[in-house]
Amino acid sequence: MTTRLITGIGQLVTNEPADDRSHGALGVITDAAVLIEHGRIAWVGRAADAPSADETTDAAGAAVIPGFVDSHSHIVFGGDRSAEFEARMSGRPYSAGGIRSTVRATRAADEPELLRRARSLVREMLGQGTTTVEVKSGYGLTVEDEARLLRLAGQLTSEVTYLGAHVVPEEFADDRGGYVDLVTGAMLDACAPGARWIDVFCETGAFTVDEARRILSAGKARGLGVRVHAGQLGVGDGVRLAVELDAASVDHCTYLDDADVQALAGSETVATLLPGVEFSTRQPYPDARRLIDAGVTVAIASDCNPGSSFTSSMPFCIAVAVRDMRMTPAEALWAATAGGAAALRRDDVGRIVAGARADLVRLRADSYVHLAYRPGVPLVAGVWKDGDRVA
Ligand code: NIG
Ligand code: FE
Repeated sequence: MTTRLITGIGQLVTNEPADDRSHGALGVITDAAVLIEHGRIAWVGRAADAPSADETTDAAGAAVIPGFVDSHSHIVFGGDRSAEFEARMSGRPYSAGGIRSTVRATRAADEPELLRRARSLVREMLGQGTTTVEVKSGYGLTVEDEARLLRLAGQLTSEVTYLGAHVVPEEFADDRGGYVDLVTGAMLDACAPGARWIDVFCETGAFTVDEARRILSAGKARGLGVRVHAGQLGVGDGVRLAVELDAASVDHCTYLDDADVQALAGSETVATLLPGVEFSTRQPYPDARRLIDAGVTVAIASDCNPGSSFTSSMPFCIAVAVRDMRMTPAEALWAATAGGAAALRRDDVGRIVAGARADLVRLRADSYVHLAYRPGVPLVAGVWKDGDRVA
């Protein structure tokens, strides 16, 4: 078996704080090297102490960071909503109703086309350093269409989320109860085998907290892990529901009251912030500082979707989070790597430590700070996934 050594790393971000506490939770080793074997990290340390290997790559003083863990995306969809974005930029507000137009286009699209477009987004993500991505259904909203989206998502990632409860589809407008019955009945039967997670959009215009509790509890009883969309458009009860159900993550968290923050701080539930959404909907940004100072674990994800946030770029999300959500560059990078891993309850990604997957990104910069300092600049110079160079 070939062993690969990446050496000459000027700054290695490990997310192992014991390595150097001066960068907060990040953990940094200077003049470092990483040994890769069987797709995993076999050794991490100072370059001067590195073991020999079959192949050696010289990073020439660049920074190397863990691959980004994008724990929230909706990349299997049909159609285009650029006109909706354009209208928003002339003053129209964002509403959950736009989801229904993507549902129509997705139902009409054929499978090869849906897969081709989703794969191209995954490639776009990889090229920007994302080595783990979660993918949701939610634009099908019939038994067959949701199952189809999950089948396609399963060809892209192992982090597959059943989001039959994205909105109530048009044909159930006068029968919400009937739709919740479907989501917790035949649709769950068809979808649970292909998913790891269940998610609900718990918000005005989507699902109430009581509906969300019923749906998430049904998924949990089938062995699915829980995720929740809440606090995107206003304060509600979704965040506390997420904590009550021990959700791995509650996502958006733009609007939170003090009780929400307290509940999150005393829980294992990660608050996943989605800076691309506020950027693309001209909403106020969530206050990451308030959460971090209260002791909440914070992740950052792209929420890549055609409506509220059509970016696939984690470096972009980091830059916005630092500029507008009161995060430090170190906190934002942690949130986009180890934070995303925590939001997926994974300990094999998001860190560069012996035993973890060899998912690494080499930057075209000597410090991770440049991810926020040089917004919009393509700083990803090399990507390794499971030890293989993929970009
Ligand atoms: O996470 N908030 C709900 N769902 C997506 C938006 C999807 C859409 O607008 O198509 C989100 O922002
Ligand atoms: Fe979302």
